[in-house]
Amino acid sequence: MRHLMSPLDFSTDELERLFVLAGDIEKNMPKYAHVCDGKKLATCFYEPSTRTRLSFEAAMLNLGGNVLGFSEASSSSAAKGESVSDTIRVISCYADICAIRHPKEGAPMVAASRSGIPVINAGDGGHQHPTQTLTDLLTIRSLNGTLNNFTIGLCGDLKFGRTVHSLIRALLRYENINFVFISPDELKVPDYITNALDEKNASYKEVTKLEDVIGNLDILYMTRVQRERFFNEEDYIRLKDFYVLTKEKMALAKENMMVLHPLPRVNEISVEVDDDPRAMYFKQAQYGVYVRMALIMTLLGLAPDVLDKEA
Ligand code: CP
Repeated sequence: MRHLMSPLDFSTDELERLFVLAGDIEKNMPKYAHVCDGKKLATCFYEPSTRTRLSFEAAMLNLGGNVLGFSEASSSSAAKGESVSDTIRVISCYADICAIRHPKEGAPMVAASRSGIPVINAGDGGHQHPTQTLTDLLTIRSLNGTLNNFTIGLCGDLKFGRTVHSLIRALLRYENINFVFISPDELKVPDYITNALDEKNASYKEVTKLEDVIGNLDILYMTRVQRERFFNEEDYIRLKDFYVLTKEKMALAKENMMVLHPLPRVNEISVEVDDDPRAMYFKQAQYGVYVRMALIMTLLGLAPDVLDKEA
């Protein structure tokens, strides 16, 4: 049984086959309408979500399966003190696969170690968000044609943004990627990420002003300042509008620069940018459904060619 805790849990060959499957799903959706007949997905969300939970549910419904779950800890027995380990043992009796989001880093890993069914990390604290990374990689691969040879700027809250941490680790396995980290000093990428970049001799630089580098980027990955991870409200208020992507800043960018954002957006991309053909963040959310469909099929053993065979 395979789980997904980090995007690195899949080899790049496995990811490539997963993306090919997701691409086929995009083109031939009706072909997959009964692949998961009789199967159930549990979504156990201890933290708020729109995209991740609903795209998982849409993915399972598109495959002909059913969904059950909870969308906040307060409506589950976690409110009475039940542990994640006990919860997943019980969920294993009710469902065939589980997606779990939790504010504590490592909680999905604890669940996986006790689970009788495949577990997917749907976001754990400021740590990892592997299915957002699968979504990001599929979007880049589909719209850019390759996962190699580009300059990507990651802008905003690079300290607490788990989507950024997962994406950087995943992109380190591809060739000729130049990273530009754009953040205020207080929200720089953590040392464990820059250490991983140094170990791989990756090309990266850290800057503060978006205007200074936007013209060099092939992809701009904007992120929200993560209010829920700040220790005090004053710091959040001081930093929340540090970056706002506007039409004026887009005018400095390449004609084919792709703008991505895991969403939700707060103020960091002005709504006037939504009509720019380079704004791909809503399309990106759509790719999240295709890749989650491919992932559910794969972890349930219903896409036997995606994962490497066990030795
Ligand atoms: N991108 C993302 O994780 O969005 P949600 O928090 O709405 O799931």
